Amino acid sequence: MWGGRFAAQPADAMQAINASIDVDKRLWREDIEGSKAHADMLAAQGIITQEDNAAIQAGLDQIAAEILDGRFEFSAELEDIHLNIEARLTERIGEAGKRLHTGRSRNDQVATDFKLWTMRAAREAGEGLRALQKALLGPAEAHADWIMPGFTHLQTAQPVTLGHHLLAYVSMFERDRVRLISGALEAAWECPLGAAALAGTPYPIDRERTAAALGFHEPAHNSLDAVGSRDFALAALANLSIAVTHLSRLAEEIVLWTSPQFGFARLSDQWSTGSSIMPQKRNPDAAELIRAKAARIGADFAALNGVVQKLPLAYAKDLQEDKALTFGAFDNFALSLTAMIGMIETMRFERQAMRAAAARGYSTATDLADWLVRELKVPFREAHEITGRIVRRAEEAGVSELGLMPLADFQAVDPRITEEARALLTVEKSVESRDSYGGTAPLRVREQIERWKGLFK
Ligand code: ARG
Repeated sequence: MWGGRFAAQPADAMQAINASIDVDKRLWREDIEGSKAHADMLAAQGIITQEDNAAIQAGLDQIAAEILDGRFEFSAELEDIHLNIEARLTERIGEAGKRLHTGRSRNDQVATDFKLWTMRAAREAGEGLRALQKALLGPAEAHADWIMPGFTHLQTAQPVTLGHHLLAYVSMFERDRVRLISGALEAAWECPLGAAALAGTPYPIDRERTAAALGFHEPAHNSLDAVGSRDFALAALANLSIAVTHLSRLAEEIVLWTSPQFGFARLSDQWSTGSSIMPQKRNPDAAELIRAKAARIGADFAALNGVVQKLPLAYAKDLQEDKALTFGAFDNFALSLTAMIGMIETMRFERQAMRAAAARGYSTATDLADWLVRELKVPFREAHEITGRIVRRAEEAGVSELGLMPLADFQAVDPRITEEARALLTVEKSVESRDSYGGTAPLRVREQIERWKGLFK
């Protein structure tokens, strides 16, 4: 493979550590696409003949068909996808195949192929997030006014609506989607092809042409940077890590909500697992695994960052590990997304359990304080103090909800409190009252659902 330079074969383990074909065969489409653009350009520039280019184009198309049909034999001796395809091309078309590698190197070739792959994967991941957002919109709309406890510190804070809670994730996934897609747009700016091994090439190549043919905006302006940089993949993995962190938080909620202690939701049979010993169990394994996948994707980012950060310019073989990490991260992300969509689409929410939990913990206490401020012009700090005493009284009397305590008990603490104030202390009234823009009132939730529907068209 290396021509005349070596007399002996590499050690078996040398080949094992060096060969990347098992991983990078996934780049075959991008590799063929890059080679076709390169050969066209070589011919347009008169560096190879039109006849050779025609043979190369046809040969590469046939190889694509072979790979698609599973007829292509990948060989570890040929190290990677680039050499596998080039060797097969020469096998098929002879001499012309040997001219394809004029004015390029595997270094700019792999940077280009991998960049194309990563851009596509990031866009697809973004589209996948849109599908999850749409899946969340279903229950958010159906349960726009269902009441559940809102938590801070996982302690009951104020009642919120289930629609509102689910839409919080729609907002998070929207930012994740935009981040992934803008990362792909940014990567599409500079094309590495034509940087050759590291220093450029003496052939009169047309880098504008190959850049445009591959959908890039312009050729990369520095050949050392072009072959030695992988920040497009780092950015994609960082964006993916953030997105999967949000997925993991939703997964965590599903684990909590489906526990008998919460009892807020029930996963469908399709998305539950049983126990081999405890017949009553319904375990949320998929949600748990999404949490674990999130940790792995974050680690994939950290690993690639670690690979790149100690490399002097330009290319070093360390960079070959970029693909396994990136492919793994995108695969795990896609699977997690599919599982999450499946769970959300088939999950049942338990209205009574959520409402009962929302009413516990004196979750409407703030509503009483707000009434004192609004109606009696009591300063908020003082209202806070009065309400605190009322909560203590309810607790001592064993009354679980403020709205259920007799008016006399309120008036024993502050005689100005009226029946009208007491009536406000239900969880329904509480969520209705939080009608500021972006708030939890069913009216506002429905307004946001309409906004999302407009955006998703
Ligand atoms: N398989 C290699 C990689 O993925 C391709 C580039 C190899 N370049 C080289 N000079 N050995 O990084």
